Amino acid sequence: MDDTPFVHLWRILLISVVVITAIVVVVAFMLQSKPSFPYEDPRLSIDERVADLMSRMTIQEKIGQMALVEKNSIKRSVDIHEYALGGILSGAGAKPENNTRRGWREMIGEFVAASRRSRLGIPILYGVDANHGHGNVPQATMFPHAIGLGATHNAELIERIGEVVAQESLALSTHWIFAPSLDLPRDIRWGRVYESFGSDASTVSVLSAAFIRGLQSEMIAASAKHFLGSGSMVWGSSTNANYSIDQGLVLQNEKALSEEYLPPFKAAVDAGVLSVMVGLGSYGDSKLSANRYLITDILKNEFGFEGIVVSDWYGVYDIAEDKYEAAVAGINAGIDMVMLPYEYELFTRDVRRAVENGDISEERIDDAVERILRVKFALGLFDAEPAQTLALVGSLEHRALAREAVSQSLVLLKDAEVLPLKTETIRVAGSAADNVGIQSGAWTVEWQGIDGNWLEHGTSILQGIREAASSSVEYAIDGRFEGGRADVGIAVVGEKPYAEGWGDNPHPRLSTEDLAAIEQLRETVDTLIVIIISGRPLIITDQIEGWDTVIAAWLPGPEGAGIADVLFGTKPFTGTLPLPWPLSIEQLPLNSDDIGVDGTTPLYPRGYGL
Ligand code: BGC
Repeated sequence: MDDTPFVHLWRILLISVVVITAIVVVVAFMLQSKPSFPYEDPRLSIDERVADLMSRMTIQEKIGQMALVEKNSIKRSVDIHEYALGGILSGAGAKPENNTRRGWREMIGEFVAASRRSRLGIPILYGVDANHGHGNVPQATMFPHAIGLGATHNAELIERIGEVVAQESLALSTHWIFAPSLDLPRDIRWGRVYESFGSDASTVSVLSAAFIRGLQSEMIAASAKHFLGSGSMVWGSSTNANYSIDQGLVLQNEKALSEEYLPPFKAAVDAGVLSVMVGLGSYGDSKLSANRYLITDILKNEFGFEGIVVSDWYGVYDIAEDKYEAAVAGINAGIDMVMLPYEYELFTRDVRRAVENGDISEERIDDAVERILRVKFALGLFDAEPAQTLALVGSLEHRALAREAVSQSLVLLKDAEVLPLKTETIRVAGSAADNVGIQSGAWTVEWQGIDGNWLEHGTSILQGIREAASSSVEYAIDGRFEGGRADVGIAVVGEKPYAEGWGDNPHPRLSTEDLAAIEQLRETVDTLIVIIISGRPLIITDQIEGWDTVIAAWLPGPEGAGIADVLFGTKPFTGTLPLPWPLSIEQLPLNSDDIGVDGTTPLYPRGYGL
């Protein structure tokens, strides 16, 4: 068809539309990618970005940054940007309704998006207790709890585990992990013994620093906790009516302070830890959150810590009845971010009033907020997030690492030389033999854990034994078997899950059901192996004589096959005790030289393992 003037006109029109659209797209892109404020420009240094952002913030926005709020306490999503909240956490593992990998990513994504809608678009920090993996999510890789990792004494392994935990957490949009615990448990009656790598300051320093390096190499902020002296509380001193020792009193002791309590935190600071969490207990006559000497003079000024000091759950409000007074005392002591975790309206109002009254200086607020912003910039939260694949969470490779860690964590306490098992007939009994919930302990989907087989990819210890055995494996939880004898009996016994002060226990020992199962099993087998699944040593002095082989397996997590790997000789025993195994309740607590209060020595010393 010939070009008519009409067609020609159409062509010109079309070309113009295309050109104009292209120009609009390019300009829009340039506008979008060009930082409108210097603090948004990733080419500037962190210091420059922090200084620029600080210069634009109102006092109210600064105070908002100091608030760390539990996700379920946020009344309206707009509060996140209206109050310019600094951080949100999943307290006690609080999860999204849809507790899947995608559910987590979407939940945190929404919180972050809400924070970005604030006037200056400052992103929140989202924190979780991924203390043995991102255990809140059933699909995540979960490792042995720290006490088991401490038994491996393998810093390289622990650093690698830190990397994996961080990669999985990042994939779930989490940027802040409330771990590791640098506590030095001296009394097995405490419900948090298993959260720590051991009882001795130098081991805990080395292993925690390795974990911190691993986490932070993947752009996750670690949190060294619980500053300070946790593990040395006096039994019966808890200020929490439900607990006995957790959140209790650490006696003032200058020697222990400099030789035991402080060195792991110094090591964490030297490893570049981005946050330190102050514990809920007291040191001497002061609540730790109000202890300016420890937090500001030592941690910040003497050790040169430049990251965020965060208080623990309601810790600042535990300082005094009057909430205004408590906030003033905590912030003046050096707390930068307050895990409120509830009343952000009241907190921001009170702190504003305190600044106006001169009870908190603007310099103190600026110092706190600069620390918070520095961490946020260091983690790249203001800049485009790299895409992470959700398939990474709970990948086969990661779970293989967890299984390896389980094998390395086992400690052989007593040996009748029946191991490795070969073609023997085997009978298995005990409450923890076929129970992924028990072997995983607390902080596994639920804060207090779940007793039962429910984790979709977990392997119980019994399953692991069945997969590895070439001969018949019979199982009865109560140890009652009929029909002749078997060569070997394996009793897998231990503690039901517990977290924090709910696990404070005046007499940690095996249950009567487990002891009965062991006795029953003993009657129909030639050799008895006892595997103890527990967050701490249990008092076994009266029973161990009658057992042939005894293994401490701690809280190995869902990869129960790692135990069979050692029982059947695919892997050797390499673990040693990360803390002494007490002889009696009367000797508790043991001192740093592992001597009991009554002058007696433990059943097995720290470092023991056949
Ligand atoms: C614990 C901390 C934990 C925090 C957040 C507190 O009860 O003492 O260790 O990080 O809760 O869940």
